[in-house]
Amino acid sequence: MFGEVVVLAVRWPDLRHALDQAGSLQGKTLVSLVNPMNETYSELVIGHATSAAETVAQLATGARVVEAFNGIFADTLHSGSIRFGGQVPSVFFCGDDASAKGIVADLIKSIGLEGIDAGI
Ligand SMILES: NC(=O)c1ccc[n+]([C@@H]2O[C@H](COP(=O)([O-])OP(=O)(O)OC[C@H]3O[C@@H](n4cnc5c(N)ncnc54)[C@H](OP(=O)(O)O)[C@@H]3O)[C@@H](O)[C@H]2O)c1
Repeated sequence: MFGEVVVLAVRWPDLRHALDQAGSLQGKTLVSLVNPMNETYSELVIGHATSAAETVAQLATGARVVEAFNGIFADTLHSGSIRFGGQVPSVFFCGDDASAKGIVADLIKSIGLEGIDAGI
């Protein structure tokens, strides 16, 4: 996998296969947009005691995982204006690697959104 920052945007049922195919992500900043939802997006599939990001971190050995952008719709990002009225959308992000989170915070800011560090 080339690039120092890799975006993971697959549906939950495809997660394991996608990461298997990706090869080593050791040391890379892995931005996960993945929501742990079933195929019809009707329910959470992992309960409330863990998270998609924790699962991604377990599967992507050595990657510096940051969950971000999972609460903002692609259509919003692709629209001509990423504002709701005059409001800039907030993008929550979390992860346990401060350096990787800094990279993602800069990315969020660079595209005109408000990043909010939601912790680890
Ligand atoms: N769409 C949104 O607005 C939005 C917002 C926030 C978070 N998310 C999250 O982002 C994830 C993707 O959602 P989506 O709406 O973008 O789904 P999507 O339109 O179905 O796109 C999923 C993508 O994953 C690719 N893919 C599937 N298996 C793969 C594999 N083994 N290796 C590499 N790529 C693979 C697919 O490629 P092919 O088409 O070539 O199969 C497709 O481009 C979900 O977890 C969702 O919860 C989405």
